[in-house]
Amino acid sequence: MYPPAVPPEIRRVDPNELPAWLEAITTTFLDRPDVVAMTRQVTEHWDFQRVWGAFDGRVVGTLRTWATELTVPGGGHVPASAVTAVTVLPTHRRRGVMRSMIGAEHDAARDRGEILGLLYASEAPIYGRFGYGTGVTTCSWTIDRRSTAFQGPPASGVDFAPINVETRDLMRDLYDRHRLAQVGEIRRRDFTFGLDLALIEFAWEPPWKGWVIVHRDAAGQPDGYARYSAEAKWEERQPRSVLNVQDLVALTDEAYDALWTFLIEVDLVATVKAERRSLDERIPWRLTNRRAAKPTEIGDGLWVALLDIPRALEARTYERAGDLVLEVIDAEPGSGRTRVRLEAGSDGVRCAPTTADPDLMVHADALGAAYLGGTPLRHAVLARGYDEGRPGALVAADALFRTLDEPRCMTFF
Ligand SMILES: CC(C)(COP(=O)(O)OP(=O)(O)OC[C@H]1O[C@@H](n2cnc3c(N)ncnc32)[C@H](O)[C@@H]1OP(=O)(O)O)[C@@H](O)C(=O)NCCC(=O)NCCS
Repeated sequence: MYPPAVPPEIRRVDPNELPAWLEAITTTFLDRPDVVAMTRQVTEHWDFQRVWGAFDGRVVGTLRTWATELTVPGGGHVPASAVTAVTVLPTHRRRGVMRSMIGAEHDAARDRGEILGLLYASEAPIYGRFGYGTGVTTCSWTIDRRSTAFQGPPASGVDFAPINVETRDLMRDLYDRHRLAQVGEIRRRDFTFGLDLALIEFAWEPPWKGWVIVHRDAAGQPDGYARYSAEAKWEERQPRSVLNVQDLVALTDEAYDALWTFLIEVDLVATVKAERRSLDERIPWRLTNRRAAKPTEIGDGLWVALLDIPRALEARTYERAGDLVLEVIDAEPGSGRTRVRLEAGSDGVRCAPTTADPDLMVHADALGAAYLGGTPLRHAVLARGYDEGRPGALVAADALFRTLDEPRCMTFF
């Protein structure tokens, strides 16, 4: 009888087991890349303390994480575990294998001192039960450039950059300065920038082919870049090409405007599309016809789980004063509840375990969703429910967690 009744062993993967591990993940993700080439390409970049497998004589489940940090309200940078590659073979699904792998990784993340778990979800219903909530909402902007123009001066200070290691290093530097100041953004892995420019091979994805433009300020200092590709199209002898913007990083409003102006004014283009952006962007307001910029594919972006609730709540700032006893119903079975007192005032933030009566009881995923200030707690609690020990505590907590600026994350992993 297959699969056997004994649950698979959950453990870290040895580098020589990587081909079998990649075979399992690509099977579950319904793809057939060259796993031998992939093994060669990824081995030097991965931390094998963070590569998990479920084994029953062969690999039947996969999960991998990497170390990052997240910029939180107030500008703090919080260590986090970025979870990816979660798969279980169709022969072993719905037997608790994913649950066991996530439990093992969360324990390991806590041991490493990581305060948050972060991920992108293939399907929305999966991760709430593990304490993850949608912390950042993203959208694509689709701009019908035939029906609008950019309002403002022509793009100046923008030029093409060659696709080489110098441009990769420049992008890495600009991106890092950007993410350190952007709530919701994360540190990217070093090799990402080489992969993005197809300077590194990766057998699972066709190589990127496109252009990089860089903006320089009046003093000639680079302060923004965009990376884009194009689909050349003609319809009835009319140019209808689509320009796909993969990354647009700007340290100033001037750089943002100049990069967008450049992209919108490229000839032969009917549509400009930028993925993983924020709803809260200034681009529509810079167009002569605001309706030409449509947000599409609006939905969950980065998911956040608080692995250490007191430290996570103390790591961010709050735009209002508040004093709240919060009881969080932990996601993982058997782990119970965490009760903390959160005090935010002009003299700073304190959050510590308490035995005081709770003002508000919420589930862990709702707190994860509200953590970055963009998702209203009063909406997030609707997924699993809440309870008030003090009338009005939910509205007060909702106001405490919200921030004026929306968190943003354009880094997918
Ligand atoms: C998603 C996946 C990893 C789940 O693995 P699994 O071992 O079957 O999950 P488990 O048995 O541990 O399930 C734990 C719980 O999650 C639920 N669950 C699992 N996958 C789910 C899904 N796709 N949608 C809704 N609920 C799901 C289970 O029903 C179970 O619910 P319970 O808490 O009520 O018991 C697996 O189905 C898979 O590999 N899917 C394809 C790849 C994928 O989408 N991976 C996620 C990448 S972000």
